[in-house]
Amino acid sequence: MKKEQKAKIVGINLNYLMADKDFYRARKKFGSPLFVYSEKMLELNCEEAKNMPDAYGLTVRYAMKANSNKTILDYFDKKGLHIDSSSGLEVERALAYGINPRKIQLSTQDLPNNLSELLKKNIIIDACSINQLKKIGKLSPGREISIRINPGNIEGGSHQNTNTAGEESCFGLWHTQTKQAISIAKEHELKITRLHIHVGSGNKKEVWKKVIKSALKYVNILPEVKTLNIGGGFKVRRDVIELISLKEIGETIKKELIKFHNTTGRKIHLEIEPGTFLVANTCFLLTTIKDKVKTKNYEFLKIDTGMHDLTRPALYQAEHGVMLIKKYENQTLKMKDVFEQIQKKDLTSKYFVSGHCCERDLITINKDNTIKEVELENPEIGDIIIILGCGAYTSSMNLKNYNSYLEPAEILITKTKNREFKLIKRKQTFKQMIQNEV
Ligand SMILES: Cc1ncc(COP(=O)(O)O)c(C=O)c1O
Repeated sequence: MKKEQKAKIVGINLNYLMADKDFYRARKKFGSPLFVYSEKMLELNCEEAKNMPDAYGLTVRYAMKANSNKTILDYFDKKGLHIDSSSGLEVERALAYGINPRKIQLSTQDLPNNLSELLKKNIIIDACSINQLKKIGKLSPGREISIRINPGNIEGGSHQNTNTAGEESCFGLWHTQTKQAISIAKEHELKITRLHIHVGSGNKKEVWKKVIKSALKYVNILPEVKTLNIGGGFKVRRDVIELISLKEIGETIKKELIKFHNTTGRKIHLEIEPGTFLVANTCFLLTTIKDKVKTKNYEFLKIDTGMHDLTRPALYQAEHGVMLIKKYENQTLKMKDVFEQIQKKDLTSKYFVSGHCCERDLITINKDNTIKEVELENPEIGDIIIILGCGAYTSSMNLKNYNSYLEPAEILITKTKNREFKLIKRKQTFKQMIQNEV
């Protein structure tokens, strides 16, 4: 097991997440499945984002759609991060958590019905289409606004479902509409002081140079823009736990901003808007093996979670690492006896991990949507399997109550020496699941 764990952890200590003996203690206290977040990992990611190289100032805006839990938002708010929300209700959620409206940006596909109420609170509004721009102008003439531009073909995103640039993507004003946007803004005395571009999630490093060069082309024709938001989308692996550096990307962007200043005299404040980068690797989903099933060539481990808690393998063929956590300590058997037991068994070391929903519910899956085998040493019913990289677009993007499974509890492992378990979301109850049905 130790060998397997080492192969899965790159450059950090598993203890940032949890010490070996804590897994079973957590399951006993909070049940399984269970989302387990690490305060230490939140801190490391947050510091890395805030320290990204910048030329004329940097704001880190957390894309709360990645994970909207109150504790996570509170944490980033205290660390000085701002918020990006993708719906009116996300804005209301952030406000309910006590976040200053001036720190909240609304960048949405669907303007809420209570938009004028939200605008009066002085949130930042990002117009994502010509019609949105007109509507904002009518409701709140004279204000400062942001516009989101779709720059055309930049291969953003690690999957076609997470690409938000190009002709097949309806996010933002199509770049050739920039001049039209300027005249609509003029008509309503709107001041376009911010430009927003987000080309997708899981972008390759090479994409950032294209993003900044393209964005600055539009900043150039928008003379009142002071802030450029280049979106989120910093690529993070979920098959391993790894800390990602933003230094190289930051340097590329900084160079272009300095060049722009040298030719135009304009110092542009930079904003980044990561979701995944800040939270994906801060959490694993603790699960329990409930059954083992053999077919002709395959042996499956069925665990007590599935696509209702973790949709990403089904949706994006996302590769999430799995680790087996055996309960060797506290067992009455000595280590020697455990190994003897293992020897006696007909071990198959390659397994397929499946969720418990009533359809193809693979947890271990290849990018081409084929079944993926993982090597695990002697997994048994009752053992814990943890699924890595479950902090972003997992709890916040679940298939709520599919097969009537309840939403799991969520805990945070504190950074303190004795690593306390802090409950940050209670497990949903059966009553809550059915309470709105009439
Ligand atoms: C406008 C916008 N900003 C930021 C993000 C965050 O992206 P990521 O989680 O890849 O950092 C998204 C993701 O969908 C987005 O649509």
